[in-house]
Amino acid sequence: MARETAFTCSDCGLQSAKWHGRCPGCEAWNTLVEERLPTPASGAKGRRGGSGGSHGRERRPTLAARPLREVGARPVERLSTGIGELDRVLGGGLVPGSLVLLGGSPGIGKSTLTNMALGHLQGSGQRTLYVSGEESAEQVRLRAERLGAGALRVPIIAETDLDTVLDAIAAEAPAACVIDSVQTLNCGELSGAPGSVGQVREVASRIMELAKARGTAVILVGHVTKEGALAGPRVLEHLVDCVLQFEGERERPYRELRALKNRFGSTNEAGLFEMRQGGLVEVLDASARFVGEATRAPGSVVLAAMEGSRPLLVEVQALVAPSELEQPRRVVSGLDRNRLALVLAILARHGRVGTGGADVFVNVVGGVRVDEPGCDLAVALAVASAARGVPLEGTPRACFGELGLTGELRWVGHPERRLEEAAKHGCDGVIAPVGSGSGAREAKTLREALALALPQGAGRLAQAAA
Ligand SMILES: Nc1ncnc2c1ncn2[C@@H]1O[C@H](COP(=O)(O)OP(=O)(O)OP(=O)(O)O)[C@@H](O)[C@H]1O
Ligand SMILES: [Mg+2]
Repeated sequence: MARETAFTCSDCGLQSAKWHGRCPGCEAWNTLVEERLPTPASGAKGRRGGSGGSHGRERRPTLAARPLREVGARPVERLSTGIGELDRVLGGGLVPGSLVLLGGSPGIGKSTLTNMALGHLQGSGQRTLYVSGEESAEQVRLRAERLGAGALRVPIIAETDLDTVLDAIAAEAPAACVIDSVQTLNCGELSGAPGSVGQVREVASRIMELAKARGTAVILVGHVTKEGALAGPRVLEHLVDCVLQFEGERERPYRELRALKNRFGSTNEAGLFEMRQGGLVEVLDASARFVGEATRAPGSVVLAAMEGSRPLLVEVQALVAPSELEQPRRVVSGLDRNRLALVLAILARHGRVGTGGADVFVNVVGGVRVDEPGCDLAVALAVASAARGVPLEGTPRACFGELGLTGELRWVGHPERRLEEAAKHGCDGVIAPVGSGSGAREAKTLREALALALPQGAGRLAQAAA
């Protein structure tokens, strides 16, 4: 009997009937992934490493290429999920026939968000389907009760068998469908356990075929590893149209939704939510909240950041304490760790604020993540203020700017929008790089910025030392 599956090396493409821990071709470890073999009817399209077969012998009609302007394209009507922040991150709503991968750590709120989105869609007259492979229908209902009447309208099936799920999607013909989660579905033709790379790839590609053919927008929920990568199926990131990441700290109410990849929109956008008893609530006045909550103590500064196209004021806090360790600690939350190391080195060299023998902790308050070079100055001012034990002048003191390795303060994008947001929330005299525009207290270098931000005595100290 003909084999139905084979193992393919994801590095060199070698195919083998048996699984090997180490690829006999390229000798890489753990690269063999089980795949379904194409049926004779579907041909050997796209398979690598196949021996013989009909490739090259069959005559196919030659395709004529034509200019793009002659390709007919209907305007895409996006589906609004009724959740403004989600729609914005998606680039204006769900695109029919698209595949969205929603990743996030356990308990972050993936099921809540997708259940709410389907509830809104169902309420607006669209057909929806929620496929739960993880929780029983009763469990999902309990959550939906918490979320309100909209979520209770969503049709659900609790199933893990891929063929049964595909049949249900074909029968229900939903406009939008959620698979919670892609790692729980099982394709019976493969011997690997659900969640293994081969299984996840097969499940996603079969769902994609159906979604594209029927114009169904599918959200695949995916788990995330401790390191933050989408568990197992990194391959899925290439397959799907959009990869969304739901982040935040479980102990804190704020959750951030980011697009890591988006074929139909920008990847700069981020949406902010708060987890409440009644579900996820969009945080529309985030700047007002973060500035209102800013402590104004030594080590606190407000960063006028850009989250995609939207300005956002967040508090950056630092703590500098004598260390008893040979290698002092550098703990960072909401920022890139390497960025902190760089800023500390620039502070020591060009601002004469040394932290060599001290533990340094830096935190972006509220569990928000800031991934932009404009955060450098805020980190530097927060650490300098914490190291000197004095609050910054005129707190809440807002700032933004990138630090160069020679101690210069560099221009960053959208200064006018950052300044406008700061002014709107009562932060005057924003310290910013030269060229940022009127309303900013411009500084050419880190040294100048320190002199502007620290109170007279501490500022003079910084200048004199420099
Ligand atoms: N009554 C409640 N009030 C406030 N928050 C709640 C309540 N019940 C649950 N939550 C929050 O909802 C979270 C669970 O959300 P959800 O099940 O959507 O997460 P998930 O990302 O799908 O998790 P998993 O990975 O386990 O499937 C909990 O961690 C908790 O923060
Ligand atoms: Mg869940």
